Amino acid sequence: MNRKKLVAGNWKMNTLFKDALALGSTIIDDVRENDVEVVLIPPAPFIRTIAQLKKHNQSTLYIGAQDCSDREVGAYTGEISAAMLESVGVTYVVVGHSERRQYFNEGSAVLLEKTKRVLESGMKVIFCCGEPLEIRERNEHVAYVQKQLQETILQLSEEEMKRVVVAYEPIWAIGTGKTAGPEQAQEMHAAIRSLITRHFSTDLGQEVVILYGGSVKPGNAHDLFKQPDVDGGLVGGASLNPDTFISIIRSF
Ligand code: PGA
Repeated sequence: MNRKKLVAGNWKMNTLFKDALALGSTIIDDVRENDVEVVLIPPAPFIRTIAQLKKHNQSTLYIGAQDCSDREVGAYTGEISAAMLESVGVTYVVVGHSERRQYFNEGSAVLLEKTKRVLESGMKVIFCCGEPLEIRERNEHVAYVQKQLQETILQLSEEEMKRVVVAYEPIWAIGTGKTAGPEQAQEMHAAIRSLITRHFSTDLGQEVVILYGGSVKPGNAHDLFKQPDVDGGLVGGASLNPDTFISIIRSF
């Protein structure tokens, strides 16, 4: 099966405007790949500017957002709606990142609402899942992630699910320098694909793009990406340097 390859760079709460502009323009000027989808996910205030740097012939380069509101519109001071993001050129929105779950207490119900707002606005979701270290040590990681997905994206219709990319990000590997070994990633990715196959259909199970995230670097990307069920990466720290990010994009 020739699934889409995708690498997304989540800048998180890093960069000021001039840094974001330099980072975004260096990457955008360098990206020539057209067999790999590349998604740049800057902080919200910089999205519009970064989106405008994209060239017309860069048909596989997309702009993403790190989060969006679970509400549609109205008196919700400080919130950013999915429709607003769509209106400034966003294609992908990250939902369920472990940092949002952990520091902002986002649980399954809110994450499902956010997912629906993104899909209603015509965009795609990068839906994150992943277990903490103690769950992995108890060897309960597969059941833990399956439950995260059952409570969220498995509630969607098959049509909706076609616009969801899943990102498996073991919490113990995020920003820690510890990466899941390629076999550990493959085991979980195969389990997620099989869950989606059983719940929706064989076709969707074959099509769904499943990214690995957690300390992806130029030195480990190739071994991760060559696993049969790993379709690319969601990259944090290493996406803040244009050279390392571009090298990861070229690691398939
Ligand atoms: P990291 O972050 O690459 O810095 O570990 C990954 C992520 O949180 O998406």
